[in-house]
Amino acid sequence: MALSASSCSGGKSGVAANSNEILVGHVGSLTGNEATFGISTENGVKLAFEEINASGGVKGKKLRLLSLDDQGKPEEAATAMTKLVAQNHVAAVLGEVASSRSIAMAPIAQRYQVPMISPTSTNPRVTQTGDYIFRVCFIDPFQGRVMAKFALDTLKAKKVAILRDVKNDYSVGLANFFTETFKAGGGTIVLDESYSAGDSDFKSQLTSIRAQNPDAIFAPGYYGDIALIMKQRVELGIKAPLLGGDGWDSPKLAEIAGSAMDGNYFSNHYSPDSTDPAVAKFVADYKKTYGGAAPDSMAALGYDAAKILADAMNRAKSLSGSDLRDAIAATKDYPAVTGKITLDKDRNAIKSAVVLETADSKYKYLTTVAP
Ligand code: PHE
Repeated sequence: MALSASSCSGGKSGVAANSNEILVGHVGSLTGNEATFGISTENGVKLAFEEINASGGVKGKKLRLLSLDDQGKPEEAATAMTKLVAQNHVAAVLGEVASSRSIAMAPIAQRYQVPMISPTSTNPRVTQTGDYIFRVCFIDPFQGRVMAKFALDTLKAKKVAILRDVKNDYSVGLANFFTETFKAGGGTIVLDESYSAGDSDFKSQLTSIRAQNPDAIFAPGYYGDIALIMKQRVELGIKAPLLGGDGWDSPKLAEIAGSAMDGNYFSNHYSPDSTDPAVAKFVADYKKTYGGAAPDSMAALGYDAAKILADAMNRAKSLSGSDLRDAIAATKDYPAVTGKITLDKDRNAIKSAVVLETADSKYKYLTTVAP
């Protein structure tokens, strides 16, 4: 675990807010195999904090971000969480984005009664930990349904193979939710193969899958592994498209997979190509601040999570854990860049998903699916 130099002026443990500041923690994978997840999220959060502070802050105080790197490891995420709540006494924590890491952090937030908002962890278990844990994204039972229906209705797929990352709670859960809906809709799962995050050779699984001649392959993993799977799919001459979820989303996908990424489909939280003026403004501001690349889902949801936290802080009776928790829980119709956000009784956001095609080494928006 290391402090992120860019977002923490103190750079030492035991950083405390002075009376003009509210300290907010962030835990993310700023390094490691999923570094774009943490970096994009932090960029989104920082942009939101700058805007909030420029317009007077929260309850007359400035927000100050204390960002910790977990290197993409659940144990490190738990250590970072403990440090933020027990030593730094943050008012709230934003993060993690990956479900396995949020699941490791949530019991600590709950024990210390410090609200935690995950921008993008979609596994149901994350918020089931307790009433201090929130998220501003949809959950995987919905996302799995979206892609199963897309496979059945749009691709007219009857036979699908699964390729899941068994080291990743998100991947395992999403594969199960997809399977449920796909089978209920009359489809058949012809093979269920697995790998472990960080593997580099997927040819034996893909060869077994090819032998079953499926209409599509559902591979709900993270971008690093998926980019290699995309390349090896092309090398093995597999025509069936890969289908996936939000974990594919990273600027690195195109960088690693190149044209091998084309012809596949995944569900995601938003499309930066949206014509909504609020989205267009966010995309333009983000590009200006960070030098060119459009914000991915992580950046957009990091931004939204930070804005929702500030909105709740303004409405809260005080910044005590329980008052802040009550205010976050009351979030209703908040106009976020990823859509209007209302938190339900299980502290999850009820939101639409988009389905994107990977074409010309980019994402092509296909459709929006309402909950
Ligand atoms: N939804 C993924 C998870 O729960 C994380 C993720 C979100 C990854 C968005 C990429 C983009 O683990």
